[in-house]
Amino acid sequence: MHDCDLLIRGGLVFDGSGAGAVRADIAVEAGQIVEVGACASRVGRQEVDATGLAVAPGFIDVHTHDDWAVLATPDMACKITQGVTTVVAGNCGISAAPFEPSADLPAPFTLLPGATHKCASVGDYARRLAGASPSLNVALLVGHSTLRANVMGGDLNRAATGDEIARMARMLDGALAEGAVGLSSGLAYPSAIAAPMDEVVPLARILKDHPRSLYATHMRDEGDGVLASVRETIETGAQSGAAVVISHHKCSGKANFGRSAETLPVIDAARAHQAVGLDVYPYTASSTALLVPMVRQALSVKVLSSVPYPEMGGRMLEDIAAQWGVDREDAARELSPAAAIYFAMDEGDLRRIMAYPHSMIGSDGTPGVDSPHPRLWGTFPRVLGHYVRAEKLLTLAQAVRKMTGLSADTFGFTDRGYLREGLAADIVLFDPETVIDRATYDAPERPSDGIVHVVVNGMLVLSEGQMTGDRGGRMLRH
Ligand code: ZN
Ligand code: CU
Repeated sequence: MHDCDLLIRGGLVFDGSGAGAVRADIAVEAGQIVEVGACASRVGRQEVDATGLAVAPGFIDVHTHDDWAVLATPDMACKITQGVTTVVAGNCGISAAPFEPSADLPAPFTLLPGATHKCASVGDYARRLAGASPSLNVALLVGHSTLRANVMGGDLNRAATGDEIARMARMLDGALAEGAVGLSSGLAYPSAIAAPMDEVVPLARILKDHPRSLYATHMRDEGDGVLASVRETIETGAQSGAAVVISHHKCSGKANFGRSAETLPVIDAARAHQAVGLDVYPYTASSTALLVPMVRQALSVKVLSSVPYPEMGGRMLEDIAAQWGVDREDAARELSPAAAIYFAMDEGDLRRIMAYPHSMIGSDGTPGVDSPHPRLWGTFPRVLGHYVRAEKLLTLAQAVRKMTGLSADTFGFTDRGYLREGLAADIVLFDPETVIDRATYDAPERPSDGIVHVVVNGMLVLSEGQMTGDRGGRMLRH
């Protein structure tokens, strides 16, 4: 005696467009939203009372390194408990597929647990993902550094030759045909810093043959050279015709505090004639491999883990250097391979970038490590609770748009990202009065508060704040 699978009654509905909320019911049938409005006469096989709750499209985490985690820990509690229903994996130049490394590889390959697992093709990856049955949807970018490793082996400290670029381009083309949604790069890293723009442009050109795919980049320099890097990214887009996304936009290092006032107008001007997007996470510390150039930019550095000195995990680099009687950079060299958190950003820049109307929210968290950056568990509730409710930097509707509709539009996910009839039923219900992150730099794996229910493709995967054990995710392709 039911006429839909799931009925969400009486919530305050944010549709993902940035428009103000309206009180409405949502009916879900066969994994899709079949009605948004007054569904008083309907009966759901399952019903959720949303009185007092905000109802939004499931959040899209546009910047993740979850490629391996969705296979190893398919419940993905770190994301579901934030209301995230889709992750874009394969960022910063590193992807799980197509990946057939034949040599030892430098950072950031050293950083990601599982990053040595081989998945020869995106088709293989998709099959493994289907077998793992993740709780959330996964879209995969193809990493430029991954392509380099496939074609150049461990010899990455140089530009690729024309022949190597052609081989990478064929590999990328195949990966896109098998369901990858774009290309990513990590030009700041040892694995790709020797790659000139002229190596990236021919690869980005391949994207033209795959509608709605894009190029996302961890730029060559997020510190002193940040403006030049923004220009390089825009130029890469202009020469290739690809839509570009500047990943985790920031201005690192004290000398560069305030410079988002220079970068955002350059981005804005370029947007008049080409597709340029960006994402941001709501923290003033970054985290990645322990690398000397990043140590130089940082006010302070927390060492998360070190292969040669595991006992130094959790200590400040400054203290280790003092204990050893060396400077920070020498201490960093000695500790490597290692991972770190860098306190290197200005709150004013963070706010300016987050308030910029075209920025999306992405976590950049690293799952599967012993002591992650708190963004892995806290990003989305932190925006909603801290920056919206407490700081009033954004309205709730604007923040939701940066987590949903804008992200879906940018990445070409035409079947989700909004609460509308006919779209996939990815839905989050949260309490706008209590939603907040609980993860901190000292206790980074605390789940957030205030995320109440999460629906993925019509399946309730979080109910009353608890994981249900059901997993409704799938691979997203264009
Ligand atoms: Zn990055
Ligand atoms: Cu990243």
